[in-house]
Amino acid sequence: MAFLFYILFWVSLSALIFIIHRTSRYRRLRLPPGNLGLPFLGETLQLISAYKTENPEPFIDERVSRFGSLFTTHVFGEPTVFSVDPETNRFILQNEGKLFESSYPGSISNLLGKHSLLLMRGSLHKRMHSLTMSFANSSIIRDHLLVDIDRLVRLNLDSWTDLVFLMEEAKKITFELTMKQLMSFDPGEWTESLRKQYLLVIEGFFTVPLPIFSTTYRRAIQARTKVAEALSLIVRQRRSESEAGERKNDMLEALLSADDGGFSDEEIVDFLVALLVAGYETTSTIMTLAVKFLTETPLALAQLKEEHEGIRARKSEGEALKWSDYKSMPFTQCVVNETLRVANIISGVFRRAMTDINIKGYTIPKGWKFFASFRAVHLDHNHFKDARTFNPWRWQSNSGTTSPVNVFTPFGGGPRLCPGYELARVELSVFLHHLVTSFSWTPAEEDKLVFFPTTRTQKRYPINVQRRSNVKS
Ligand code: HEM
Ligand SMILES: *[C@@H]1O[C@H](CO)[C@@H](O)[C@H](O)[C@H]1NC(C)=O
Ligand SMILES: *[C@@H]1O[C@H](CO)[C@@H](O)[C@H](O)[C@H]1NC(C)=O
Repeated sequence: MAFLFYILFWVSLSALIFIIHRTSRYRRLRLPPGNLGLPFLGETLQLISAYKTENPEPFIDERVSRFGSLFTTHVFGEPTVFSVDPETNRFILQNEGKLFESSYPGSISNLLGKHSLLLMRGSLHKRMHSLTMSFANSSIIRDHLLVDIDRLVRLNLDSWTDLVFLMEEAKKITFELTMKQLMSFDPGEWTESLRKQYLLVIEGFFTVPLPIFSTTYRRAIQARTKVAEALSLIVRQRRSESEAGERKNDMLEALLSADDGGFSDEEIVDFLVALLVAGYETTSTIMTLAVKFLTETPLALAQLKEEHEGIRARKSEGEALKWSDYKSMPFTQCVVNETLRVANIISGVFRRAMTDINIKGYTIPKGWKFFASFRAVHLDHNHFKDARTFNPWRWQSNSGTTSPVNVFTPFGGGPRLCPGYELARVELSVFLHHLVTSFSWTPAEEDKLVFFPTTRTQKRYPINVQRRSNVKS
């Protein structure tokens, strides 16, 4: 009993000190209003439990209604300013590298590798970012990447029978596409065994809280080493081929022959891993969720089918999609935008203040974390009418929104704008084209969305597929 008292005494004393300390800092600094929750844990548990349900919105909604569109909370071990205001989000994104910098926990940096684009800063980041942008810009997609996207999507779909776990297939497709684009590999045993290792690495990203105690995390680090070894071998081989004048047309070649000095093998490997990581979960999830939303919105699915059957009707059997076909899918582009808006694969971005930040009448001290929530803006009724309903037709008029400023940022913006934004759109469009013209399907089971640790469906979205015979494909 005495022992219990002793513990209680110390816990309440330290909580008290914590609160006093915090409130005095608060007064001095004019922080945005908010609630820092429990000592140390803050509001992390509320955040996580909200995001594990199908409707995480109340976490932010409640705080916005009490405190406004800029509020303070305490999550993942640090006080954090949440912004659900599009102007503030824009300010945060545009001032990357000047007032803010991106910030990842150490456990994630280890998995990414120290030369990862995601972790780079300053002028090196600028150079690598623009190289990556040029690797996946629209003329490169049109002239080089599209033909393989079309072929590899079709190859994967050809193997479908009866029951398909859509999320699994989408991941396979995405990995195969990325391997082709980065280093000209066609799918085979080698890519599949690399993918198995790679899956273990990915698992490591979602064990953030206490990595030292986690076997998943240790396994991820080991798998990361294996992936890096396999890739270094390729890089070395390709470097000697390239020096002998044997050039391929892919991202690896661009890195090997970069005119301003070139990169070391290790830098190139980290870079390849970064691209694999950034494009994998995101693109495969958006493919799965587009199908889920369409399945639940039969009118939209019917209109999408009509659009793609129209394209098929103009082509000979088995003929590949051309850039001009991609450019004549107006309704598909509405579906793509609406899926990105509702799904919010990247729900927002964390940044750290590099200096004291004055914004909207508040002063936020250097070193504090910010979270620019895209999700909250995308699902705000002030910016999108009936914001929480999947309605692709909204994009047919006035760019989907009722708001004059840019409120739609699924790919971020500023110096860290997603270099894969066009590629992801093209891959999703081609996938939808072949899916709706080759198959009809019904969900095999009810499957729910969850948002933590990533946005996904609980059961990998199982569907029963029937091949359509009446359409040329
Ligand atoms: C639907 C699919 C995708 C979504 C929603 C998405 C979203 C995003 C967002 C929001 C960012 C900004 C992160 C930040 O500001 O901190 C980002 C960065 C990035 N994305 Fe994507 N992305 C997608 C697909 C891809 C693909 C296919 C690639 C591969 C080329 C890719 C490569 C990257 C890279 C390398 C970065 C880091 C850029 C930097 O830090 O400079 N993404 N992505
Ligand atoms: C795309 O990048 C290539 C270099 O990779 C460049 O030559 C071309 O001008 C770029 N095109 C566009 C539309 O930016
Ligand atoms: C989809 O969103 C992008 C911005 O990311 C915009 O430029 C484009 O016009 C939108 N497409 C449609 C069909 O509204």
